[in-house]
Amino acid sequence: MYLTREQEKMLRGDYGWSTAKAMEILVKVGEAMGASELIEIKHAHISGVSYVNIGKYGVLLIYELLRGNAKAKVFTTINPGCIDYSSLSSIIDNSLEKEQSIIDQLFMEMGFKPIFTCIPYHYRPPLPFEHLAWGESSAVIFSNTVFGGFTNREGGPIAIASALTGYVYKAGLHILENRIAKVNVELGILTSRTPVGAIGLWIGENIGDLPLLTQRGGGLDIYRLKVLLAAMAASGSHAMAVIPGVTPKGTYMVEIEDKVVIEPQYIEKYIGEIPDSSNKILGYIGCPHLHPVELYRIYSLLKKYGPPRSGNKLMITIPPEYVDKHRNIIYALKALGTDIATGTCPVVAKIRREFDIVVTNSGKAAFYLSKIHGLRTSIMELEEVVKTVGGKNV
Ligand code: F3S
Repeated sequence: MYLTREQEKMLRGDYGWSTAKAMEILVKVGEAMGASELIEIKHAHISGVSYVNIGKYGVLLIYELLRGNAKAKVFTTINPGCIDYSSLSSIIDNSLEKEQSIIDQLFMEMGFKPIFTCIPYHYRPPLPFEHLAWGESSAVIFSNTVFGGFTNREGGPIAIASALTGYVYKAGLHILENRIAKVNVELGILTSRTPVGAIGLWIGENIGDLPLLTQRGGGLDIYRLKVLLAAMAASGSHAMAVIPGVTPKGTYMVEIEDKVVIEPQYIEKYIGEIPDSSNKILGYIGCPHLHPVELYRIYSLLKKYGPPRSGNKLMITIPPEYVDKHRNIIYALKALGTDIATGTCPVVAKIRREFDIVVTNSGKAAFYLSKIHGLRTSIMELEEVVKTVGGKNV
């Protein structure tokens, strides 16, 4: 791989052990991916930071990096950890607070921004053609598809290595010729009740190529699109889709070889169980984390359908900073019985299981809550989630 003089110095250890290790990782992985050079990035986003996922050996690795003089060279943000930072939630079990705080502290000493959210584009929206090194598959696919950012799906170590050097290997979606839509996936007519999270899981599992997504009759706003893309990236290896009118021109190419039309029966198996009236239900919204606009929508739906009826709960997950920045709506939601978890989510945290089944609009959450946590799940649209747990018979 060709390295500039500056990159050579990094690799040689002129900037300390951690920078040298980071450069070594990037060169080795880059060569394995066929890259002939490294490119500058503007933003690194680190996923896999929950103590539940990385445990004490992960902490030791981060500690060693800090001891070796690790410092962020570019704007770097952090994904959710395993604790509710505002202690507002009764469902998230904060017993690993000490362990998670050590991880967070180490990252902050490296200069990483403690945003603890999977929607880093809310803090720093990428510009079209901007190279990034992001972990968190839902953020990667949203960035490439909606903002025209250029990032692969990176694991924690590569994203950290990129944060510490400011570079990533030039391969995969960093190259325009690899961003070619080859299959047209026609989403069909999306009503307000069509569970787009389930459609995303079907696409992830059944479509291998980069898809061009088209739809008839609208119905896919940016919030539903976020859920659809996250599900595609969860059940499959997707890191990008092309959506005419959304994906910035020039950041993709189209050479369609095949067309698939989504039929309603395709998604039945992904919807899961429908809860009955004897079930204690956890309604969950916020995977990926919610935008403030979605908070107001949930509030008006709670007014319509009533706070969760006895035995049920409604949980939302959001970035920690909303608690100050959007205090009024947060406490209005809380007053209507919403369980609010900040800087975390039930997938990456320990949770108190005082329910029989989870109903969620998120295909990604349903996918991991059933696969990793062994929970019973059901996917339905956001309004249906609030209605299902609500106390009013509307
Ligand atoms: Fe975010 Fe957790 Fe979902 S990190 S994308 S809310 S699994």
